[in-house]
Amino acid sequence: MPSCSVFPVSATGTVMTPVPVHRPPLPILAKINWPEDVQTPDPATAAALAAAAERLVNGQLVAIPTETVYGLAADAMDADAVAQIFQVKGRPATNPLIVHVSDESMAQTLVSQWPDIAQKAATAFWPGPLTVVVPKADVVPDIVTANGQTVALRCPGLISTRRLIELAKCPVAAPSANRSEAVSPTTAQHVLEGLGNRIGMILDGGPCKHGLESTVLDCTVYPPKILRPGPISAAQLTEAIGVEIHESENDSAEQHEGQKKALRSPGNQHRHYAPQTQLILSEDATSLVPQLVAEGHRIGWLSHTPEKPAVRALAASAGLLVVPMPKDPTTYARSLYATLHALDQRGLDRLVVDAVPADSEWAAVRDRLKRAAT
Ligand code: TXA
Ligand code: MG
Repeated sequence: MPSCSVFPVSATGTVMTPVPVHRPPLPILAKINWPEDVQTPDPATAAALAAAAERLVNGQLVAIPTETVYGLAADAMDADAVAQIFQVKGRPATNPLIVHVSDESMAQTLVSQWPDIAQKAATAFWPGPLTVVVPKADVVPDIVTANGQTVALRCPGLISTRRLIELAKCPVAAPSANRSEAVSPTTAQHVLEGLGNRIGMILDGGPCKHGLESTVLDCTVYPPKILRPGPISAAQLTEAIGVEIHESENDSAEQHEGQKKALRSPGNQHRHYAPQTQLILSEDATSLVPQLVAEGHRIGWLSHTPEKPAVRALAASAGLLVVPMPKDPTTYARSLYATLHALDQRGLDRLVVDAVPADSEWAAVRDRLKRAAT
């Protein structure tokens, strides 16, 4: 473990004996680059994946890229390794983890029943950003499912993530690689900033394609229910499964009710995905922002309409940083967390975010913004 010495000076000015200060080492940051249309990875990528797999086999944690957000991975069948995930994240033991599999046949070793709906969903969207909640098999350690009888399964879209699972020869439990309740990481740098020396290795696969967490579909109820909106929409699920599925918004009232009862998806707590800077979601930011600026607050404004004269007029105000946000939901989703991570470093007093459209294609973004604003 590297150490350095500090030389404390006593009240009389004499230098006292050096006191060693131990700092845990920073994690190994290994780049991986595996384009989807290439059969075998380059040697550096292959070596990084092999080293990461070895860590998983040895019960250690590795932060990994996925097409949604970065995950904090452990061998899902190793309860001690999974316990470290909860510890490193500061995650409540009542919040179950998603188990990542390399393919459908690995998924079926983890379930006591494979519902027809899960089969249809997997056929349509795996590998990809869809998690199915299904009845769990006894082999899945209770810590993974927070003692529940269901398990959340996902086959990730990146070929490198699937190869890692194959190399480790185990399903991989992986929540987002951030401290509990914080904004999920969409780059290796975000993981480093959030978890730093709490972990030993980060695989750096570049920025995540979707930038928001997977859609979570409960396949143990009929009709199946979206527990967390994400990149796969209700309309896409309805079409693939042949059953009408509604976009679940978990709006404030419903969430609050839900929290009083037993939550179906315990991680869907009210406050989540929140930056450190207080975030206000506003239907009328052109009125709110000048008011806050006049009160002396330093404001970051995630504006949906930066081209509007009213916004442009305000943009020159001292203490105001206007961040133009994309107009389409896919690009907005991809950049949202990265924007929040970046603005959190600016020492601002408040972030004001323009409310996004009420259409279903904005459901996932709207869901995350609501939680971040709580
Ligand atoms: O895109 C993703 O899903 C990312 C990447 C890393 O795969 N993972 C992720 O994990 O977002 P996490 O732990 O941050 O969120 C998992 C969500 C939580 O809301 C959790 O409560 C829910 O899935 N969940 C997990 N197991 C469940 C279960 N058996 N029943 C219901 N909800 C479950
Ligand atoms: Mg998370």
